[in-house]
Amino acid sequence: MVLPHARADLEAEADAREFEELARSAGAEVLERVSARVERPSPRFYIGSGKADELRHLVQVLEANLVLVDHALSPVQERNLEAHLGVRVVDRTGLILDIFAQRARSHEGKLEVELAQLKHLATRLVRGWTHLERQRGGIGMRGPGETQLETDRRLLAERVRQLQKRLERVRTQRGQQRRARLAAGMPRVALVGYTNAGKSTLFNALTRSTVYAADQLFATLDPTVRRIPDLPCGPVVVADTVGFVRKLPHDLVAAFRATLAEARDADLLLHVTDAADPERERHIDVVNAVLDEIGAGQVPQLSVFNKIDLLDKPPSMEHDRLDGPRRVWLAAATGAGIELLRDAIVARLSRDRVHGTLHLDAGSGRLHARLKVLGAIAAEHFDERGWHLLIDAPRSMLEPLRGEGAEVLARLLEPSA
Ligand code: GTP
Repeated sequence: MVLPHARADLEAEADAREFEELARSAGAEVLERVSARVERPSPRFYIGSGKADELRHLVQVLEANLVLVDHALSPVQERNLEAHLGVRVVDRTGLILDIFAQRARSHEGKLEVELAQLKHLATRLVRGWTHLERQRGGIGMRGPGETQLETDRRLLAERVRQLQKRLERVRTQRGQQRRARLAAGMPRVALVGYTNAGKSTLFNALTRSTVYAADQLFATLDPTVRRIPDLPCGPVVVADTVGFVRKLPHDLVAAFRATLAEARDADLLLHVTDAADPERERHIDVVNAVLDEIGAGQVPQLSVFNKIDLLDKPPSMEHDRLDGPRRVWLAAATGAGIELLRDAIVARLSRDRVHGTLHLDAGSGRLHARLKVLGAIAAEHFDERGWHLLIDAPRSMLEPLRGEGAEVLARLLEPSA
C-alpha cells in the first residue's frame, strides 16, 4: 500500500540506513535505532523530553555506552543529552570527523581533520566532563580527542594556531608541487567515490609499479598523488580523494578543499562505486551531489564499478557511441579488469584532451596571454613569424576560446587535429 507519505518515509529510511553504515564504519556496534519526528527542535535536548526519557530507558536496558544523533547538535543540547542519558552523545558532524580521522592518509589530510576536530570540540571541551565518567577512546574521541580532553582553552587555541601554521606550510609546498606537475603538462585523473567504494585499493592497483623515490614531482609529502606508469599516452597523474558521504558537513568541505580541488582540477574523474552494494545507485547520486557542490560537476567522468568478484561477474567495458568508454567493471582487490581500465583512461584522455602545435602571429598577443594563464602551453618559442606553441590542455578549457575569432585554434580543436 502506498501512503501519501511514502516517499518521505522511504527517504528517511534510506538516510537512517546510511547513518547506520557510517556508525559501523566508525567501529560502533548498532544495538538499536530510534527515530523521532522533530518539528520544532527543543533547545534543551533537540528531541522532545518524552523521547529523551524513552532513550534513557533504552540505553539502560541495552547497556549502551554511546548515543549517535543523525543531526548537528548545539554544544548545550549535546551536554544536556549526555547528562540526561548518562552516556556520551556524538552528533553527525562528530561521527563523520571521527571516520575521517581514522582514514586520513596524507599528511595534509591528517592535519585538516585534526584542525576540524579541534574546532568542533573547542566549544564542547571547555565545559568539563564532570557529568560523565571520563571514557577514553571510542567514537568521537579519536585523533586529538584523547589528549585534548586534558587541556584547557589556552592550550587548545595554541594547538589550533600551530596546526594552522603547519597546514599553511604544507599547502604552500603542495601548491608548488602542483604547479610543477601542471608545468610538466601531465593529464590529471582523480579518484572520487562514496566512502568504502574501494578508491584506495584501486589507487594502489593503478600505481603499483611506480618507482616512487626517484619521482621528484611526487614527493613523499603527498602520498595521495602518484603516477600511473607505462601508459601508451605518456605519464598520467592520479590523485586519491577523501570518501564522500551524504550531507558532508560544510566545515569539512572547507577543511578538505585542497584534497577536493584535485577533483575540480582533474581532466577526468574515475567515479568508483561498490557494484555489489544494494545502495549503489543512491551512492552515485550522493557523490554527484557533492561534486556539484565543490564545483566539479562538469568534469568528465569514467564510471568504475568495483568489487565484481562479489557479483561473480567477469571484467568488462561499456561504451557510449559518442563518448567512448563510459564504464568499466573490475575488481581492484584482485586486479581483474585493471588493464581494461588503463585502456579506457587512455581512450578518454586522448578524446578529452587537445595535443598539438599552434602557430600565432605577433598580433595574437591576447590569445597567447590567455593560453599562458590557463596553463595550456607545454612548450613555446618566439621568432620573427610569431609564437610556435605546443598545446596540451583539456578540450573543455580551450573550447570557450573558439569564440575569440581564433581560427587557428578552431582548427586545432577539430576532431581530426
Ligand atoms: P574511503 O577511505 O572510505 O574513501 O574508502 P575507499 O573508497 O578508499 O575504499 P578502500 O580502498 O579502503 O576499500 C574499502 C573496502 O573494500 C576494503 O575492505 C577493501 O579491501 C574492499 N575492497 C576494495 N576493492 C575490492 C574488490 O575489488 N573486491 C572486494 N571484494 N573488496 C574490495
